[in-house]
Amino acid sequence: MKVLGIETSCDETAAAVVEDGRKILSNQIASQVDIHARYGGIVPEVASRQHTLSIVPVIERAMAQAGVTWNDLGGIAVTMGPGLAGSLLTGVNIAKAIGLARGLPFTGVNHLEGHIYANWLTGAELSFPMVCLIVSGGHSDLVLVRGHREYVLLGQTRDDAAGEAFDKASRLLGLGYPGGPAIERAARSGNASIPLPRAWLKGSHDFSFSGLKTALLRLVEGDGIPSPQDAAASFQEAVVDVLVKKTVAAAQEYRARQVLLAGGVAANSYLRQSLSEASPLPVLVPPPILCTDNAAMIAACGYFQFEAGKTDNLDMDVIPNLRLV
Ligand code: KG4
Ligand code: ZN
Repeated sequence: MKVLGIETSCDETAAAVVEDGRKILSNQIASQVDIHARYGGIVPEVASRQHTLSIVPVIERAMAQAGVTWNDLGGIAVTMGPGLAGSLLTGVNIAKAIGLARGLPFTGVNHLEGHIYANWLTGAELSFPMVCLIVSGGHSDLVLVRGHREYVLLGQTRDDAAGEAFDKASRLLGLGYPGGPAIERAARSGNASIPLPRAWLKGSHDFSFSGLKTALLRLVEGDGIPSPQDAAASFQEAVVDVLVKKTVAAAQEYRARQVLLAGGVAANSYLRQSLSEASPLPVLVPPPILCTDNAAMIAACGYFQFEAGKTDNLDMDVIPNLRLV
């Protein structure tokens, strides 16, 4: 079954066609990064306006790239939350409109669940149970995936999300927006020579990154930082160190068969490499383009929802603070 996926939760307008939840027929993403970069972060009103301008051409491109017509589709999957309300509305409304006009079923997808399902698009064999680390701009969640749509939240951030920490650190160091890729780039020519704190929160699978951010702020405001590259490398190492060790520990404790990585921060090559090296269990990581926001992951997740008989009606609404469990 071919599913059209639609994603407009944040600052990417995306549409994709995926077959049987595993095969990408098309994957179109219109990024708003350049527009928001002027403001140093995402401006919600600008984001929703941009989605309304881009969504139709992006869907048309996804259909054309896949070489399909409406008659070839079995359903539509759309992100219903979490995310920015005004942005989510664009996707949800167009999914309903197409569903109604073309007589296609539609299903609302949890964006975080979508990130997990990016792992189904890699061609790798998957075996439950797995422990998945979801690290994005808004979340740092450690999740036990027992089966399709069967999740146990093992840990989450108590303050900043990992991506948020990257973005704030980048701003502090004057490296620009979006912060994750900027820190990664700067870190490549730096040494992780500055000692920075790690919050282990012993006995818990939760995370905390605000202490690290404050330590960096004190350095910048105090003696100053001799090299932004060294600071970026030290910061990246501190974040990745905690993410990797806590993920491996959770995977062992819950006897997972695989470790999955998901979300925008999973595009970070130092994190990808460190987790693969540290884990005694097989680690699956989607290619970077499927880690950051995209609609193929939404279509993949939607396919498994259709398989389980979960469809929505015209009264489906956006849920900006939707949780995974
Ligand atoms: O999943 P995502 O694309 O959007 C949300 O759902 O939030 O994640 C965006 C986050 C941003 O905070 C961005 O700085 C971070 O992912 N990110 C990275 C990298 N690429 C994106 N963080 C570290 N290294 C990267 N290469
Ligand atoms: Zn995301």
